[in-house]
Amino acid sequence: IHLGNGCFVLVCPPQTVTGTLALSVFTAVLGSLQFGYNIGVINAPQKIIEADYNATWVHRYGEPISSRTLTTLWSLSVAIFSVGGMMSSFTVGVVSEWLGRRKAMLINNMFAFIGGGLMGMAKLCRSFEMMILGRFVIGAYCGLASGLVPMYVGEIAPTSLRGALGTLHQLAIVTGILIAQILGLESLLGSEDLWPVLVGVTVLPTVLQMGLLPFCPESPRFLYIIRCQEHHAKSGLRRLTGRQEVGDMLAEMKEEKRRMDMERKVSIPELFRSTMYRQPIAIAILLQLSQQLSGINAIFYYSTSIFQKAGVQSPVYATIGAGVVNCAFTVVSLFLVERMGRRTLHMLGLSGMCGCAVVMTVALSLLDSVPWMSYISMLAIFGFVAFFEVGPGPIPWFFVAELFSQGPRPAAMAVAGFANWTANFIIGFGFQYVAELCGPYVFLIFAALLLFFLVFTFFRVPETRGKTFDQISSGFGHASPDIMDMELDKPSTELDYLGAEGSLN
Ligand code: GLC
Repeated sequence: IHLGNGCFVLVCPPQTVTGTLALSVFTAVLGSLQFGYNIGVINAPQKIIEADYNATWVHRYGEPISSRTLTTLWSLSVAIFSVGGMMSSFTVGVVSEWLGRRKAMLINNMFAFIGGGLMGMAKLCRSFEMMILGRFVIGAYCGLASGLVPMYVGEIAPTSLRGALGTLHQLAIVTGILIAQILGLESLLGSEDLWPVLVGVTVLPTVLQMGLLPFCPESPRFLYIIRCQEHHAKSGLRRLTGRQEVGDMLAEMKEEKRRMDMERKVSIPELFRSTMYRQPIAIAILLQLSQQLSGINAIFYYSTSIFQKAGVQSPVYATIGAGVVNCAFTVVSLFLVERMGRRTLHMLGLSGMCGCAVVMTVALSLLDSVPWMSYISMLAIFGFVAFFEVGPGPIPWFFVAELFSQGPRPAAMAVAGFANWTANFIIGFGFQYVAELCGPYVFLIFAALLLFFLVFTFFRVPETRGKTFDQISSGFGHASPDIMDMELDKPSTELDYLGAEGSLN
């Protein structure tokens, strides 16, 4: 509809989930499933794998391993995963532009095969080096997946479903964590003989993903805006939407491409130099930090020993309980994210986590005099996990893809991914030392950080629900840096406001 003044209003039909869209999202998030699986897999069988490290040591050197060397080897096995992730996440931009999103996911599977193979064969070859190297390589796989999956899903999702489909990345991560926690039980695969299978089965989703990816279309936004392949982009759009007439979507991409052609290509240093990107990149980094420095992985890496210290009777089952709460609340977020918006949910999650961290501290410090405090601390941990999944878990992953248009998106995803993995590494490696130092007060540090991120989100993070990528990024391009002024509430399934150039061809 032409409004005069060269402005058009596009009235789009409701956006639905077609078979192709469902298949493509499902296939992509198989990568996220592996990411989660490899986060969770190392928690339960620690003692059993350590015993094998010791056996190898005895076999090689004729004496048992010292406890100090064993701790170092184990910490390395846990933390090198995030080092792999840090390194590969930094290449997400280059790889996704060079190969395209779909081919990059396909080729990334090579890392999963090598990593899974190395870990699965480590016991047979009597080599803890293979296990450590395998953890590094699978970490590299996960680093790339953590950027490629949200990027691909964000780009193929219709605007009105971008948050819900984006949350599926996190849902697959938490499902992976839960599967690993359950399979890791000693009565299942977490036993002396079967742990190589436990760490090796990570290749199964890889095989499935490789079989399905050829049936998924490449991201039409990538094909059209980056590769200028209008014909291929159109046929991808038709498959994804199930509609023959995709002119309105192409018009929106055209507008984004027009803007992008006016900019120079955006490199990582430029993200920080240009005034246009400085604010969104700061938001992207801080959101990732809010996810990791919330302390969530202190729970997921060390829950069993945290529950033990809190006096919980069966810590392994309490860990699985945390995994179940984790999954359940990700589903809650999935249904809320398009209704309540990203900003509100993120703030709700951060404040809830902050409250739970305080309760946990009080409960832990009273534990000696009031024994039933162990139940309170367990509930506080469950609450902490639940609030995490309402906002800080899923939202930062897809929010970065939303904050940037096609040009700077890959570089921004790389920077955000790197920030996330670095903070993940810091928590994974440092938590135990800080916990020793601070005793029951360790979660107060997280409470303070959570409060800071809450204030930051309140003042700086915009709502992106229902906006096209172009509308979001042009909000940052305005002379006023105060993007909170943007009118960002009308879902664009009903109305897409485009300039004259974004006409209906
Ligand atoms: C998020 C985090 C990951 C964490 C997980 C827990 O995906 O990125 O580090 O382990 O949530 O559910």
